[in-house]
Amino acid sequence: MRSLRLRVAELTDLAPTVRRFALRDPRGSALPAYEPGAHVVVTTPAGHRRSYSLVDPGGARPSEYVVCVRRDDGGRGGSVSMHDDVAMGTELVVSPPDNRFPLEPAARYLFIAGGIGITPIRAMVRRVRADGRGGARLLYLTRSAEDTPFLREFDGPEDTVHHSADRGRLDLWPHLAVPDDDARVYCCGPAPLLRAVRALTAHWRASRVHLEEFTAGRAGPSAPFTAVWAPDGRRVAVPAHLSLLAALRRDGIPVESSCESGTCGTCRLALLGGEVEHRDSALTGADRLGSLAACVSRARSPEIVVGPNESEGSV
Ligand code: FES
Repeated sequence: MRSLRLRVAELTDLAPTVRRFALRDPRGSALPAYEPGAHVVVTTPAGHRRSYSLVDPGGARPSEYVVCVRRDDGGRGGSVSMHDDVAMGTELVVSPPDNRFPLEPAARYLFIAGGIGITPIRAMVRRVRADGRGGARLLYLTRSAEDTPFLREFDGPEDTVHHSADRGRLDLWPHLAVPDDDARVYCCGPAPLLRAVRALTAHWRASRVHLEEFTAGRAGPSAPFTAVWAPDGRRVAVPAHLSLLAALRRDGIPVESSCESGTCGTCRLALLGGEVEHRDSALTGADRLGSLAACVSRARSPEIVVGPNESEGSV
């Protein structure tokens, strides 16, 4: 589906660093459908392509896409461009929605959101509650009340909003100790939170636990390496400051991407030789035996051999 050109119709600051953007068709047309957990890729005025979860539950004919962006002055520039360069009326190129974190049916849900990870979780909680289904518990973990978008929405009996500045870390174990095959756990937030939830749900059926990371791809120092492009044997130098994705493109090898932060899997390539440090949160353990996310992962060996991900036609 072709990209959309949408106009910023509302701008609201939900917290000192979090801004809400409502994006609408300039002619008022309905937009392509989406369901909770979906994201769009927005091209910022400075040219970054960034994935943002849609914070409303969606449906068949949404009139707008609403995204919330936390400003990260230490990031790669996308959020700063959204905050500094976008005004009311700015037109942005926006992809049609894609959903790699879909809300699956369940009798009960435990939703866990860390910080700006509330964005897809809010859409899910609202959908489940709007449908009149019970059993949608929410744990919403933030630094402080001031720092918490949508705070007033989540004050019901099934909501726990926990501020670490006041009370330290929330112990998640009491919420996850008893596995429940009729329930699903959905968690979105920063890597440490996902690691904790992954560890604390090791005794759950894997299919009942759904994780989406917001800040993948920033781990560890990066060393240079060489990537051999299997289809023609081309040797691509990947310096420390460049991702494998960027280095391949620099040398004329096209690779599709979306989030460019290790969360969507669009840039997945076949790994045909060498050792890799996986820094994404998109690929499963099985995926990682034979593939890697080119936007964030790096070689552990001096050289790796990569090629198109034939199973998904990613290039
Ligand atoms: S582009 Fe999304 S994981 Fe690489």
